[in-house]
This record gives sequence, C-alpha cells and structure tokens, in this order.
Amino acid sequence: MPEPDHPDPPAVLITGTSTGIGAACALELDRRGFRVFAGLRQEADAQRLRGEASGRLVPVMLDVTEADSVRSAAETVGRAVGDAGLAGLVNNAGIVVPGPLELVPLDRLRRQLEVNVLGHLAVTQAMLPLLRVVPGRIVNVSSIAGRIAPPYMGAYGASKHALTAITDVLRIELRGWGIHVAIVEPDSVATPIWDKFQTDSDTLDAKAPPQVRKLYEQDLLKMRKAAYRMDRTGMPVEKVVRAIHHALATRRPKTRYALGWRSWLGPWAFGGMPDWLRDWIVLRMMGVRK
Ligand SMILES: NC(=O)c1ccc[n+]([C@@H]2O[C@H](COP(=O)([O-])OP(=O)(O)OC[C@H]3O[C@@H](n4cnc5c(N)ncnc54)[C@H](OP(=O)(O)O)[C@@H]3O)[C@@H](O)[C@H]2O)c1
Repeated sequence: MPEPDHPDPPAVLITGTSTGIGAACALELDRRGFRVFAGLRQEADAQRLRGEASGRLVPVMLDVTEADSVRSAAETVGRAVGDAGLAGLVNNAGIVVPGPLELVPLDRLRRQLEVNVLGHLAVTQAMLPLLRVVPGRIVNVSSIAGRIAPPYMGAYGASKHALTAITDVLRIELRGWGIHVAIVEPDSVATPIWDKFQTDSDTLDAKAPPQVRKLYEQDLLKMRKAAYRMDRTGMPVEKVVRAIHHALATRRPKTRYALGWRSWLGPWAFGGMPDWLRDWIVLRMMGVRK
C-alpha cells in the first residue's frame, strides 16, 4: 500500500465517481495515497470531488459510452502518468434499467448494456497499454445480479452476467502480462442508484402501453418495494471500497469478492437445485411474493 506523499504514488483510474461507490472509492484511495484519476461526466461533480480530496486527485471527464471521451481520457491519463503506467483500473460506472422484461423498451436495454458492459470493455481496452507497463490490476464492479438474475431487473442482470463472463475471460487472457483481474459482487448497497431506479420506474410506468401496464400493475408495485427495501437494507459503501482496495493493493488479491451473505451463499447453494426451488428462494431473497 502506498504511503501518503510518496514521491511516485501508484495511479488508479476509477469510472463513475460522481456518487455512491465510485465517489467513496475515489476519496478513500486518495486518502490512502494513490494518485486517483476520477472519471466523471459533469464539471459540477468534478469540482465537488476536488473540494473533498487532496490536491493529488485528478478529475477526468469520462463517459464510458462515448468513444471520443474514452480516447481522450486515455490520452489525459497517459500524459499524466508517463512511463510509470497505470497501477489500477476500477470499472465502476453503472446504471440499473428497471422493469419486467416485457415492458423494458429495447433502447433502454441497449443503454443498459452500453454502460455496464461495452463501456467497461471500451475503457479496459483503452487503458491496457498503460496497465501493461506496471503491470497494473483491473477491478470490475459487478453485483450479486451477475450470478443470480433478479426478476424486474432482467436488463441489469443480463448486463452483470455479461460482465462476469468478460471478467472471467480477461482474467485468463491477461494473466501472461501479470495483470490481475478481480470482480466485486456486492449484494445491495445503500447508494443513489436506488433513487434513480424509482425515477426510472416512473418513466417506465408512464411509457408502457396501458393494456400491458395493467397486466403488470402488481409486479410494478412489488418491484418498487423491492428496490426500496434494497436501498434501506443495503450495506454501507465502505464495505465495497474495502474490497476494491484489497483487490488493488494487497500482495495476494482475490479474484472474486462476494459481499453480503446472499452474494456468497446464493450461487453456491443454487448449484444442482431444482429451478422451482431456486425461483422460490430468489423471490424471497428480494422480499417479493408472487
Ligand atoms: N448500489 C447497489 O446496490 C449496488 C450493488 C451491486 C453493485 N453495484 C454496482 O456498483 C456500481 C456503482 O453503483 P452505485 O450504487 O454507486 O450507483 P450510483 O451512485 O448511481 O453511481 C453510478 C455512477 O456511474 C456513473 N455513470 C452512469 N452512466 C455513466 C456513463 N455512461 N459513463 C460514465 N459514468 C457513468 C454515474 O455518473 P453520473 O452521475 O454522471 O450519471 C455515477 O457516478 C455500479 O456498477 C453498480 O451496478 C451497486
């Protein structure tokens, strides 16, 4: 772990640092002496984060779905770190597109995959030349939804399952260069993502064709209650930040950080379980009766 004020602190790029896990991670790694490049999309967020961090932290404008933005961020980071390279990349940016799959507009599903899957891979591809120099480490922030697809969040589950597959492949493909790839799989975390979920649910409600919407009236209510519960009972962001720091800084990092009892017990217990029992448990895990 680097010491604060080390003459050449290890550089880390984190995506999605305006709020939640990303913001907490940026501030904690900054506090621990890393040279943090904080990916953001709004100047106001950059100013706020700069105000809370040391002079070392560098906000970088980065929309993971925009090719020009990714390219320009790679150039900015590359110029700043020079021959020292990048010690870590935390692919954290993410959104949740809510809704039963019949109601999810396909352009929203595309957006879900653009941000949570293609965005992570685009940033990874752009940063690999800098990571190879050190060699650095990659931490992908996935979710329990990358192992157990949650009803009413099928788009999100699909994106996180894809991220799990990508992480499993990168871990093997990048091993030859000594680049360690870890996945962090938290159960629910108390962050603004759940408020955004409720707002996006309002939009879904408003846009769904009335006859289909009527069929799902009760489900939409259950979906909102489940999201509300996940926010209220979510683990603190600090728990996720500790895991990310472990993956970046310890001598023997793990490849998988399942956080929360449902996250480590669920996938293990589901192996070989009949689907009817699995589905019953998944609904109860979400606090939903169907
Ligand atoms: N909260 C949970 O229960 C939970 C559980 C498991 C895993 N996770 C995962 O943790 C990660 C962080 O989520 P969070 O809970 O901290 O949510 P959050 O507070 O809503 O943060 C999401 C971050 O992603 C950024 N983002 C969204 N679209 C982006 C894009 N196109 N390009 C770059 N950045 C973008 C947001 O930036 P803007 O403000 O600019 O939109 C924000 O900084 C996500 O990958 C999420 O799936 C969360």
